[in-house]
Amino acid sequence: MMTSMFALVLGSVGAAYVFVSALLYFTQDSKEPPAIETALPFISPLLGLVFGMQQYYVKLRDKYGLAIYTLRMPGQRIYVVNSLSLIPAVQRQIKTIAFAPIEAQAVATVMGIGPAGNAIIGSDKMFEADSYLSTFVPSTHPALSPGPGLDALSGAAIRYASGSLAKLGGGKPMAVELFFWVRQELFMATTESIYGPKNPFRDPALEQAYDFEPGIMAHMLQAWPSLLARKSLHARDRLLIPAFEKYFAEDSHLQGSLLVQCRYEHNTSHGLRGRDVAATEIGQMVASLTNSVASAFWMVYHVFSDPVVLAACRAEVEQQLVKMEVDDDDDVHETLRYVHIRVSARVVMEDTMLDKYLLKKGATVMTITPVQHTDASLWGPTVGKFDHRRFLRGPDEKRTTNPAAFRSFGGGAVLCPGRHFVSTEVMSFVALLLLRFDLKPTTKGGKWVTPRKNYPMTSAMPTPKDKLPVEIVPRDQRKWRVEFSSSSKGVEMIAEDVAKGGL
Ligand code: HEM
Repeated sequence: MMTSMFALVLGSVGAAYVFVSALLYFTQDSKEPPAIETALPFISPLLGLVFGMQQYYVKLRDKYGLAIYTLRMPGQRIYVVNSLSLIPAVQRQIKTIAFAPIEAQAVATVMGIGPAGNAIIGSDKMFEADSYLSTFVPSTHPALSPGPGLDALSGAAIRYASGSLAKLGGGKPMAVELFFWVRQELFMATTESIYGPKNPFRDPALEQAYDFEPGIMAHMLQAWPSLLARKSLHARDRLLIPAFEKYFAEDSHLQGSLLVQCRYEHNTSHGLRGRDVAATEIGQMVASLTNSVASAFWMVYHVFSDPVVLAACRAEVEQQLVKMEVDDDDDVHETLRYVHIRVSARVVMEDTMLDKYLLKKGATVMTITPVQHTDASLWGPTVGKFDHRRFLRGPDEKRTTNPAAFRSFGGGAVLCPGRHFVSTEVMSFVALLLLRFDLKPTTKGGKWVTPRKNYPMTSAMPTPKDKLPVEIVPRDQRKWRVEFSSSSKGVEMIAEDVAKGGL
């Protein structure tokens, strides 16, 4: 009896296996990129992703060495592009391998925009030149491309950071958890510079804004956010959106940056109103804060935890004490190359040829930044090492790596418009920290221990999994006057010797 039961179960499993294998085989066109990880059809890639996250894609690159491949998941096919030479072709076909539907989905699910707003943003006309989505990034160019708008924004962020560091600990050593502290500093510097004197985040109740982000995936997949992302939903609907609604209702944006004014103008000129305008700020908040905070944290970690890097960076900053060029953001670039985890997704709108490969309508095309950023054929044998000099070049030195290999800010039509602002902000924050303070780990033995990482699929930078308690110790009693002139001229820092005791 037991034996026949066992044989029945085994037979059914076998039959199911044959069926799904045949299903995969007969639905995979020979012109599509090769399907891999088919040992357990549809299930192997799912398990690989759940347990390996972004590292799974790096393993698959090393295991199969393919330029592009297909992963078949339940109800979904994903084409993963490994080869840098195929990426420009992906980026060029903006209407057939499109980002706009993903943005529209994020708007509808993550930001909590209502039906009227969604009808405008996600309309069938989203690909037309004058649509909400097509005009959004260009509408922010006056504020985020090099020029007076960007200078004012960066200047405000640097002034905030500088003022905050000047007051830190009242000139005495201060114990902090590093990520928590960096997050607070960057969060306030960024929101003060964007929203101005009526910055909603001055209200301590909005600290719970941090609860929003961990729930983004549950919102995006509509995986019962009211159950699985309760705190996130509460932060969004009860705290953040009402705070932004009040901000715009009181015309506070008129005292804020050109960036928030451009966004308001863009929203209202396309017909968004009231709560929907406020809800779009959720997306902006995530875009401008999540990756900036994590980048600053990892840069502080990499610069301060290695005595050689620390000495070199500090010497560089001190040497240029009087005038520090904003272009000197090599360490920001290396941090972004080394730590980046972004998965960029696009939707195939109709059957399309990419080089010699057929991409089927409805599939997702992905590029995985760590795949390109850990490729020794692109970066050389030191690819696995944090090298603060990697992006440094003398005035007559030629670039030795392909510039397209640096994927941290995206590329083609979807290039991060905040890249100038964040590079200046993070670089200046770390430079100010280098000039004024030492950081001493307060863990057992006083040694720096590399924190493990969380790999959120929705972010470009990981957050640390482990706490990193440090003491921030003032180096001396000098006082610093920080003047930000303009991004084309640089960040000027002038040391003022002051009477004993001052800071
Ligand atoms: C270190 C910090 C940052 C990193 C690493 C980063 C990275 C990226 C990447 C990789 C993309 C392209 C996404 C894709 O291809 O799927 C992107 C897009 C975008 N980023 Fe950033 N970003 C950062 C900071 C910022 C800031 C400060 C802002 C705003 C002030 C911003 C606003 C945006 C926007 C609006 C887009 C969408 C562009 C579009 O729709 O064409 N980002 N970012």
